[in-house]
Amino acid sequence: MTPIKECLINKRTDINPIWLMRQAGRYLPEFRDIRKENTNFIKLCLNEKLSEIITLQPIDRFNFDAAIIFSDILMVPYGLGQNVEFKKNFGPTLGNININDFLDLDEKTFTENLSPVYKLLENLSKSDKLKNKDLIGFVGAPWTLLVYMVNKISPKTGLPEDFLTDKTLINHLLELLDRFIKIHIKNQVNAGATIIQIFDSWAGLINKDYEKFLYKPLESLVKFTKSLGVPVICFPRGILNYNEFCKVVKPSMISIDYNVDPKKLIDKIDLPIQGGLDPSILLTNKENLNQKVTMYMEIFRDHPYVFNLGHGIMPDTKVEMVEELVKIVRDFK
Ligand code: CP3
Repeated sequence: MTPIKECLINKRTDINPIWLMRQAGRYLPEFRDIRKENTNFIKLCLNEKLSEIITLQPIDRFNFDAAIIFSDILMVPYGLGQNVEFKKNFGPTLGNININDFLDLDEKTFTENLSPVYKLLENLSKSDKLKNKDLIGFVGAPWTLLVYMVNKISPKTGLPEDFLTDKTLINHLLELLDRFIKIHIKNQVNAGATIIQIFDSWAGLINKDYEKFLYKPLESLVKFTKSLGVPVICFPRGILNYNEFCKVVKPSMISIDYNVDPKKLIDKIDLPIQGGLDPSILLTNKENLNQKVTMYMEIFRDHPYVFNLGHGIMPDTKVEMVEELVKIVRDFK
């Protein structure tokens, strides 16, 4: 059994398991080399040969316990037919929504639009490099995708006040997202994903109707994924009450962000926990890194824990610091 799976069933593992959110990405020189030649990000995600190489880059370097496929949460809006572009130093920009086109879309067309993602998983699940490791497929949560699809850019400075006023549109989109995210999960599992992670990166922006935008959609996706026989990790970044979230949504494991005080959480949460360390610590120095990482490892000494960050690794992170991080985690006894 893989170290992460052991952790998921509450067993003590021989090694301390570790992988990092956004481990396949811009902090790696070998990724930047490929990216330079491939200016269209969506096309790169749909190139199953290059995506396979990129997915395995962090495994080759750091021997993490899981590979997460090189893809993006915005592949679902793309698969639905919305235009998605990534502009340099700006982030994603999405096109207008034609809700009637989305409502007409069938499962077959959506699956065809994203077929290289599934081919990527099929190829990776045969790779020798992933022996005794997990292969993580992922989706964005309905709320986070709604944010990108309606706002059309990252809501770095918050959402406009009228964001939720078109109730018909919002309700249609929530229904559509529930349906197509499930299709995307099912296709990834059928293609070989051994764990699914749900990224709700903008959950912290929900300030009312938690039931409608957070709990109900995630509970539904978690139930669905479990029914396929695959564990599901939730990352509801920025929410205030992780305890309540776990009780309602019941993921197989909870991924915590860097604003959570792990000491306060540990007695309350009865599920395996992942993550926590502020990714900006990797931009400081080895001494500080050692101190902060050891703190997490001490706190979770007797709790099933997968080491990870409290958000994605930052592009300015030095490879040397990641090597050090892995060493600290692996050597912790
Ligand atoms: O984790 C991995 O290594 C696997 C690949 C992965 C990417 N995006 C590749 C990527 C994963 C799991 C994601 C998830 C994702 N994408 C999230 C959720 C996690 C999070 O960080 O909150 C979100 C919100 C997105 C949307 C997105 N994609 C944004 C906002 C951006 C631009 C800014 C940024 O953070 O890089 C992307 C682009 C993107 N997705 C890149 C990579 C490697 C960078 C592309 C580049 O410019 O070279």
